[in-house]
Amino acid sequence: MNSIIRHMPDATALQPDFRSAMRQLVGGVSVITVGRGDEVTGMTVSSLSSLAVDPPSIIVSLNRNASSWPILQRERVFGANLLAADQIGVAERFAGKGGLRGAERFAGAEWRRRVTGVPLLVGALATLDCEVEEIIERHSHAIVIGKVVHIDVAPQSAALAYWHGSYVGVDREDDLGRLAAFSVPDPRLTP
Ligand SMILES: Cc1cc2nc3c(=O)[nH]c(=O)nc-3n(C[C@H](O)[C@H](O)[C@H](O)COP(=O)(O)O)c2cc1C
Repeated sequence: MNSIIRHMPDATALQPDFRSAMRQLVGGVSVITVGRGDEVTGMTVSSLSSLAVDPPSIIVSLNRNASSWPILQRERVFGANLLAADQIGVAERFAGKGGLRGAERFAGAEWRRRVTGVPLLVGALATLDCEVEEIIERHSHAIVIGKVVHIDVAPQSAALAYWHGSYVGVDREDDLGRLAAFSVPDPRLTP
């Protein structure tokens, strides 16, 4: 097996390797939404993950230069919208494609409000309405811990992931079919 293992004391020298290592990590794509009324915005993230089931809580890492950051810090509530494979357009808008800002990013999709009042995406795989429990500012980013106060889950459909700098659809039926084609038969299951 070919592997690259380097031990370098200088953190700057490690950055290219770090970037290429992180490109190997498959990330589910979500959109964080913040603000209420006219002052709404949001951003595409792949850093969202589950923190705990009891209490239901999530963790997400946000760049403190992002336009969402001051609003999230002030309002202390946010939405986490887990995107379906056919929502690449939403992901691109909230990544700032075409220079879209603030409320412009919400155009072309349907949004609703639940408990906290932040916009939640209709048709997302799941939406989590969250109150900020804790913020840890570290390096360029803020690690935000969200306490989930409302959940909507859609019927199962393909998920949107990001891998090696590209969007990838993850479809349970398709991928199970492909896996079956490659899998070695289990002798215990064959007569
Ligand atoms: C697939 C994908 C995943 C991203 N994940 C994150 C993330 O986890 N944290 C983050 O701070 N920015 C992330 N970004 C970048 C932000 O979406 C982008 O910088 C942000 O929307 C721009 O902020 P702005 O509102 O200041 O324009 C990601 C971008 C893409 C395309």
